[in-house]
Amino acid sequence: MLTRRVFLGALATLAIPVPRRHWPSPLWRARSQVELAALRIDATRLRHTLESLSQFGRPANGSFADGVSRLAYSDADVQGRAYVLDLIKSVGLSPRLDPAGNILARRDGADASLPPIVFGSHIDSVPNGGNFDGDLGSLSAIEAVRLLNERKIATRHPLEVVVWANEEGVAFNNGLCGSRAVAGKLPPEELEHVYNGVKKTDAIRKIGGDPTRIPDARRSPGSFHCYVELHIEQGGTLEKTGIPIGVVEGIVAIDRYDAVIRGMANHAGTTPMPDRHDALIAAAQLTLAVREIVTSEPGRQVGTVGHLEVVPNAPNVIPGVVRHTIELRDLSASKLERLAQAVRDRARQIAAATGTTIDLTLASHHEAATASPVVQDAIEAAADHLRLAHQRLPSGAGHDAQSMAQLGPMAMIFVPSIGGISHSPRELTSWDDCARGANALLHAVLAADRMDVRS
Ligand code: GLV
Ligand code: MN
Ligand code: MN
Repeated sequence: MLTRRVFLGALATLAIPVPRRHWPSPLWRARSQVELAALRIDATRLRHTLESLSQFGRPANGSFADGVSRLAYSDADVQGRAYVLDLIKSVGLSPRLDPAGNILARRDGADASLPPIVFGSHIDSVPNGGNFDGDLGSLSAIEAVRLLNERKIATRHPLEVVVWANEEGVAFNNGLCGSRAVAGKLPPEELEHVYNGVKKTDAIRKIGGDPTRIPDARRSPGSFHCYVELHIEQGGTLEKTGIPIGVVEGIVAIDRYDAVIRGMANHAGTTPMPDRHDALIAAAQLTLAVREIVTSEPGRQVGTVGHLEVVPNAPNVIPGVVRHTIELRDLSASKLERLAQAVRDRARQIAAATGTTIDLTLASHHEAATASPVVQDAIEAAADHLRLAHQRLPSGAGHDAQSMAQLGPMAMIFVPSIGGISHSPRELTSWDDCARGANALLHAVLAADRMDVRS
């Protein structure tokens, strides 16, 4: 039966003939359908580049299994980016940096009037992170272009590889930094933020950006054909179902709050228990309250207290001040607001009961994003073509694709994370699944090249 999926699968194998006058150089030629359909990423080379990148930010005397700490704007990030810049040059592209420090590399298409297909990911990591989060999508995008260049295969649309700056947002407590600049969502006041004594403007300069020209990083809606990002799932759904390719339907909204709890520092030996104003006791109660509130209704919402600072943080002093984060995630922004209100109410009760004050401020809000049904179709067509089973699923992790969704059609490809582990050195995806994902990315881009993604 000719279903929509079968039709799109067949479509993915079709090469639209490109008129000779549009070929970028006489060397370039459109290839037969058979040749395009047979294209496969060099899995050994992809593995080699992932292993090479993992050296930047690796713990001293560690190995690949020890993961990376490649925080955005750190020396390791600068080194990793230098490696990626060289890699991009080695595949025959000329990378450039935009003012936010995003790495971009364009490959001309046969029709210069068409907007580019943008694809890539990020290479910054969380502290003690893994080797696949962001790296797989970034290096697979470069590998895909390398293959097309080696085979001298022209696409209709220009292709643009992107490696986003500061996706994780551990530095400056706000992620998707580079892609938000592109979406026009990096406000000037954010550039004044300081992290570990370094101002954001200086951090951006350190990676080669120009903080005085952030508005120039902006892209207009409709300025790209579509955005496709390959990423590890970072959860356990695909591994549990045994399905190698996830097609992301949407990405959760993420609200991060800063909690500042002020009690009173005092002597830990001489202050009777009833007389204490212990900020850490209040923080502990608030942390448990977040968990209780988030789990009090059905759904996939999550809440985390992941960062905490205790002042003065000494064994014989009652904690006087605690600063911590509260992060809430769900596809529904209204549910997040409802949960946040419940947390605020509980914070007031806890403050009264512990003799402290608790201030909650919204540090960042990242909107949920819906993937384009047509680009999802392109990914499914690619997976069908590769004879890989696939399933649609939501993303509980944040991604730069969220920013791009504000400007045009986007979709994401997930590959299984072993044990559903991520943001950990134990993050792992089998090399076979990495190659499957990279091939799905390549063929999704080729399918999207031949599709009208606005429909
Ligand atoms: C990024 O990985 C995030 O979801 O925090
Ligand atoms: Mn990531
Ligand atoms: Mn991450």
